Amino acid sequence: MISKKARGWERDMKRRVISVSGKGGSGKTMISALLIREILAECDRSGVGCCVLAIDADPDANLADALGVSYEKTVGDIREKILEEKQREIGMDIRIRFEAKIAEIMVEEHGFDLIVMGRPEGPGCYCPVNHILRAAIDALSRNYDFTVIDCEAGLEHLSRRTTQDVDVMIVVIDETMKSIRTALRLIEIARELDVDVRNMFFVANKITTEETKKRIEAAARRHGIEISAFIPYDQSVARFDIEGIPVVNLPDDSPSVVAVRGIVKMVMSDDS
Ligand SMILES: Nc1ncnc2c1ncn2[C@@H]1O[C@H](COP(=O)(O)OP(=O)(O)O)[C@@H](O)[C@H]1O
Ligand SMILES: [Mg+2]
Repeated sequence: MISKKARGWERDMKRRVISVSGKGGSGKTMISALLIREILAECDRSGVGCCVLAIDADPDANLADALGVSYEKTVGDIREKILEEKQREIGMDIRIRFEAKIAEIMVEEHGFDLIVMGRPEGPGCYCPVNHILRAAIDALSRNYDFTVIDCEAGLEHLSRRTTQDVDVMIVVIDETMKSIRTALRLIEIARELDVDVRNMFFVANKITTEETKKRIEAAARRHGIEISAFIPYDQSVARFDIEGIPVVNLPDDSPSVVAVRGIVKMVMSDDS
């Protein structure tokens, strides 16, 4: 039922669920795509093939573009169908049905599978369905070595509990104070709600100069945030974006790729 790549359980590898959240436009999608690329590259380098589940949890889905793949259906599309079936009381466990349907719409690529969440909800109340959906995605992600979730810009994914518990929550900030305020709200909400986040890494993206790097580092520290990694403003990311080239095709030595490689090493060596 699940993709043939989903075989993480066969090896004794530490599985990790990584979420990428932060202010809209801070670079979540770019970072998620490069994380997936560099996780696969790191696994290759160390001779342990691994499989990654990519989840685009942003209704304004563009992780597929960043990864250079296309998709036909989103989880939002099948949620409504399953809900209709449930209302008609067609037997069979709804979670199992979700799992099977999600596996059907999953995009299978070399090294990774992609699930696009799509629209969060329609006019009705989907709370119980969201709960089952989350359980189905939790169950699916257990079959992969790594799950990377590109979260939506707001905080709804946390408050609606459509995001599962995570091992590493990467919070992206940029050079703006607004992005620090979003990061602070994310920390607060993750604490208030019962989201099990084992570790939080703060990543500052699109850093233009040494001076702004120091300024943002100091501003974050004043709010109790220690930045773990800096990603420079990368002209080639901007150029790829303008030309519509998937960001995963950046050269190995691009400043953004080199920086994300460092983040992957940090995440992989994190044993907390
Ligand atoms: N390090 C970077 N250097 C240059 N441009 C970047 C960088 N990171 C992201 N961008 C650009 O910033 C914009 C927002 O990035 P995106 O990943 O879509 O953000 P989000 O997913 O948080 O909304 C895009 O145009 C992207 O190309
Ligand atoms: Mg995005």
